[in-house]
Amino acid sequence: MTGSPRQILVTSALPYANAPLHLGHMLEQTQTDIWVRFQRSRGNHCRYVCADDAHGTAIMLSAEAAGRSPEDHIAAIKAKHEDDSAGFLIHFDQYHSTHSPENQHWSETIFQRLEAGGHIAIREIIQAFDPEKGLFLADRFIKGACPKCGASDQYGDNCEACGATYSPADLIDPVSALSGATPINKASLHLFFALTHFETLLTDWINSGQLQQPIANKLREWLEAGLQDWDISRDAPYFGFEIPGYPDKYFYVWLDAPIGYIASHQVMCERTGDDFDSYWLPGGGTELYHFIGKDIVNFHGLFWPAMLDSAGLRQPSAVYAHGFLTVNGVKMSKSRGTFILAETYLDHLDPEYIRYYFAAKLSSGVDDIDLNLEDFVQRVNADLIGKVVNIASRCAGFLRKKFDNKMSSECVEPALVQSFIDAGTDIAALYEAREFNRAMRDIIALADRANQYIDEKKPWVMAKDEAQAEQVQAVCSVGINLYRALATYLKPVLPVMAEKSEAFLQTSLDWTALQAPLKDHSLAPFQPLLQRVDTDVVAAMVEASKSKA
Ligand code: 2FM
Ligand code: ZN
Repeated sequence: MTGSPRQILVTSALPYANAPLHLGHMLEQTQTDIWVRFQRSRGNHCRYVCADDAHGTAIMLSAEAAGRSPEDHIAAIKAKHEDDSAGFLIHFDQYHSTHSPENQHWSETIFQRLEAGGHIAIREIIQAFDPEKGLFLADRFIKGACPKCGASDQYGDNCEACGATYSPADLIDPVSALSGATPINKASLHLFFALTHFETLLTDWINSGQLQQPIANKLREWLEAGLQDWDISRDAPYFGFEIPGYPDKYFYVWLDAPIGYIASHQVMCERTGDDFDSYWLPGGGTELYHFIGKDIVNFHGLFWPAMLDSAGLRQPSAVYAHGFLTVNGVKMSKSRGTFILAETYLDHLDPEYIRYYFAAKLSSGVDDIDLNLEDFVQRVNADLIGKVVNIASRCAGFLRKKFDNKMSSECVEPALVQSFIDAGTDIAALYEAREFNRAMRDIIALADRANQYIDEKKPWVMAKDEAQAEQVQAVCSVGINLYRALATYLKPVLPVMAEKSEAFLQTSLDWTALQAPLKDHSLAPFQPLLQRVDTDVVAAMVEASKSKA
């Protein structure tokens, strides 16, 4: 916490504007939000921006199916996304849309710089085309019988019956999944980004040590297999931005999606006065981190650094990928009721439960994270209610009854309290390294020690003896100081419980203030900090998820 504050810009992946958020999205936003709140709590200048990813064929079709214009559709979905994120206590400094004038400006600018640098090639390609819909068909929009086992109604490029993989051109009797028409082959001109020009840049980036090991390995594999030019255009009709100089050609959604980070940040800077250039021009002394799922590392690990470089912009400081969310050990499933929408969760449960549970599971690695619903109930109740909140509620009771909520004027266990303060150094390092699971383990171990201390002193026994009244006050005051350290360390994960704790403790929870224990200090009347999770409510959430499938 010494030196000048770091200037940090953080993003999480932009959700597609065609479906509601589910717990997989919330895992990523929670991981990002905790890290951002931690940075702020350490006095760093840290901003978190995101946006809806609003372009592409899938969104165009989903608007059509909803019977509204793409613009109305994405506006409605964006509003819902923002509500759901807020419900999970995700604090964005800006939430924008890729369908915005700022994003159009930056997409065109970056494209023009790529083109001026000689990195855009134009080639004719042949693709399946739906003559009824008048649309080129991506692989997932073509269905037919499997060329290997003959199973009917198989999508695009792999068979769900026998597991064979093939090209959509090999499907027997292919039809468009959109109209049922037989696709024809049609040629059109496409624009390609010459990724091969950036081999040296990408090799350096992959070897920079800034990437997680498994991610660097994967990127290295791709590099060694030979980089391919990247098709960045799509033909009309398409919901997106028309490419300047190429009528009826649109930027592929993945070209303008990451540029949405820049656009969203620009809008934020116009509002807050932050210096936009120092975040996007090279050498600005700022840091830039992208939190993403491991399925999109090719875009963030290859295309994005190459695009930034060729446009004369800075490189990310790091890309932080996380694993997928499974529920009860398997992929989220609609029929099992484990495909849980953010909204359904919020209809039933407090967001802080799952923020804590995710924190207790998240590391800096890319392994999948399992939400085991039984373990979830058990862990939240045992750790947060049974251990952490318990310390405050036990001690507050005695201080209220006999001492008018006043803490004692001397700290009788300075070494114990100091050990809790000192533990903050390691806990901070774990947060910084995104080892949230280890940070939570350390915090809960401290809570065990605090409870052990109170159990040893037995204030409930001493309270029966008037002569020991002062000791009761002293022990409970130690307990409150220990609780204060725990609540400070948990604040990035549990911001609402932190706020309630601040009201109760009559002090703001912060790592610096924590250095001086509370003495002779008046507390506000204790209010419940967090309720137990009820198994029945979790079951009701699963039922409700089934009916939404
Ligand atoms: O995979 C997805 O959900 C994309 N919408 C993520 C985009 S992240 C960024 F590049 F915009
Ligand atoms: Zn098959």
